[in-house]
Amino acid sequence: MPNPSSLRNEPLKGVLERLHAAARGDRFRGLKLAPRLALGFLARRNLWREVLTPEAMKELYIPVSPEQGQLLYLTARAIGARRIVEFGTSFGISTLYLAAAVHDNGGGLVVGSEIEPGKHARAVAHLEEAGLTEVTDVRLGDALETLRELPEPIDLVLLDGWKDLYLPVLELVTPRLRPGAVVLADNIFTFRKSLRPYVNHMQSGEHGFVSTTLHLADGFEYSVYLGKG
Ligand SMILES: C[S@@+](CC[C@H](N)C(=O)[O-])C[C@H]1O[C@@H](n2cnc3c(N)ncnc32)[C@H](O)[C@@H]1O
Repeated sequence: MPNPSSLRNEPLKGVLERLHAAARGDRFRGLKLAPRLALGFLARRNLWREVLTPEAMKELYIPVSPEQGQLLYLTARAIGARRIVEFGTSFGISTLYLAAAVHDNGGGLVVGSEIEPGKHARAVAHLEEAGLTEVTDVRLGDALETLRELPEPIDLVLLDGWKDLYLPVLELVTPRLRPGAVVLADNIFTFRKSLRPYVNHMQSGEHGFVSTTLHLADGFEYSVYLGKG
């Protein structure tokens, strides 16, 4: 009998194992960027926005960890998510977890977003290989444009693109969230300073969210939308 979670069944199981293994090579591919970042550090300039462009990082997966992927899947199953939005799809690892949950919940749509054309093409191919094309729509281009039109109400959002855009993307999606929607945001620890305004926004209690930072992987901000009250 097949497992009730598609994550445990082929073809998805094999696709995820292969992609997580390939992503472990990021530590070597990323070394190419180290000299310029180090120079910026020595010159006391924060060059990450200039150096870490989507073009420069087009070979890097920088995915959610397997544990974060499991949390995405379980959360989406727990709340019966049918409409999910993702900022930052890369090669599609997180999208695969989210799409599996939507599929296992009975169908719906994960709207992804990726600005780098090569990554977008690879993500679409991985979703096809996993048999999840029907529940996904990965849009090519700047998320601030491609996520303007969205199915409503949104049940779950993953923020995992460039960090200075978390708040602008959140502003785009907030009016479409259903009460009880979950918003997850990655890399809270590495980008502690740049993401402080985002974390403050979510934790202040003034914008309809309750929120906490999970010590999972690189820090996962887990927020629940309670509505405007
Ligand atoms: C950390 S990676 C996403 C990893 C992915 N969520 C996963 O778990 O496999 C961030 C991605 O966001 C993309 N990105 C950056 N700025 C973007 C923008 N304005 N619109 C859409 N995608 C963007 C980058 O090209 C990069 O592939």
